[in-house]
Amino acid sequence: MSTLLIHNVGLLATPLGHSARRGAEQGDIQLLRDAWVLVEDGMIAAVGAGTPAPAADTALDAGGHLVTPGLVDAHTHLIFGGWRQNELGLKLHGATYLEILARGGGILSTVTATRQATEQALYDKARAALNEMLALGVTTVEAKSGYGLDTETELKQLRVIRALQEDHPCDLAATFLGAHAVPAEYKNDREAYIRLLCEEMIPAVARENLARFCDVFCETGVFSAEESRQILEAGKRYGLIPKIHADEIDPIGGSELTARVGAISAEHLIVCPPAGIAAMAEAGTVACCLPATSFYLGSTFAPVRDMVNAGVPVAMASDFNPGSCPSLNLQFVMNLGCLKYRLTPEEVLTAVTLNAAAAIDMADRVGSVEIGKQGDLVIWDAPDLDYICYRMGSNLARTVVKKGQVVKNRL
Ligand code: NIG
Ligand code: FE
Repeated sequence: MSTLLIHNVGLLATPLGHSARRGAEQGDIQLLRDAWVLVEDGMIAAVGAGTPAPAADTALDAGGHLVTPGLVDAHTHLIFGGWRQNELGLKLHGATYLEILARGGGILSTVTATRQATEQALYDKARAALNEMLALGVTTVEAKSGYGLDTETELKQLRVIRALQEDHPCDLAATFLGAHAVPAEYKNDREAYIRLLCEEMIPAVARENLARFCDVFCETGVFSAEESRQILEAGKRYGLIPKIHADEIDPIGGSELTARVGAISAEHLIVCPPAGIAAMAEAGTVACCLPATSFYLGSTFAPVRDMVNAGVPVAMASDFNPGSCPSLNLQFVMNLGCLKYRLTPEEVLTAVTLNAAAAIDMADRVGSVEIGKQGDLVIWDAPDLDYICYRMGSNLARTVVKKGQVVKNRL
């Protein structure tokens, strides 16, 4: 047995529990001063405060700083070929996101680059991004396919995720997003593409057990609410748990669909109407909000305060992708959570740890510092939570521990 003791923790801040926290509970976190955490064989075995710490094989002095759970990024498009910096100029000249997509750019240009990329090249690039995330304090990451839009390339993307699951310290959750756009070759026959998704791609993904979740981009000009429902129901028949990109640009019924299909999470929700908030509250769907995307698109921000007040559990994630959010910095997302969503630092912490873990069905293992969870922790260059939500632009993650192993240490 190997043991790691993290001691001299000035403040241990963590939500508690094995499921998403909603309403007033979202901000009701545990704060322990003068604390220690004992990790045995990668799992948290004991937590104490104001008491002498036990002996361990390795001791890590937190220097009186803040410690939190490792952050969970519950929404990324991690696997893609190329970048799209050329779209910045188009945006500055007034082109909107959906206009660029309608002209065959946007997602579709990344599809071309991803089809051309080798599996090894995609792996190397995603691995570099994951290393960057880890250095920012992110220890669990959801990753989607969705830049293949043909069976071969969608499976290639998901195999890259599987390879990273096997050999990167981060935990990864895989999501099939073949319904990310209608590819150019099906432009005039979208029904045939939906059949391909439901009858070929989803069964192939399930056969190789390459994903746990099925997602769809429910948006004007992409997939309607009814098409999204069909695709998610097909995924369910093969054991894939539904997720929905809903109400990002136009409110066409995506968030209302969550209750009908039993979605574990709905993503974006920038223009989520009251009926969508009510549906998510009823279904217990996690609202996975992506403020860095609003920031980058120059759009409004999701009505997150209304969601919390209505009892919807809120998570926040990066949405890292080459088009609408080229940043993977979850600390920046935390800053925006306070400044733009008006969440408290405590609510923000829950949004990027326990509720994010619940959005990817991993809240039984990660997302909080308590006995029985994985030893995933961050020691911050910060005395308290207010400080990390306030010092925008710096990387304040000092030491990152994943399953009881120190994976980053900046002393
Ligand atoms: O979540 N909205 C759809 N998908 C991504 C953007 C993908 C892209 O532009 O490449 C998103 O914002
Ligand atoms: Fe997304």
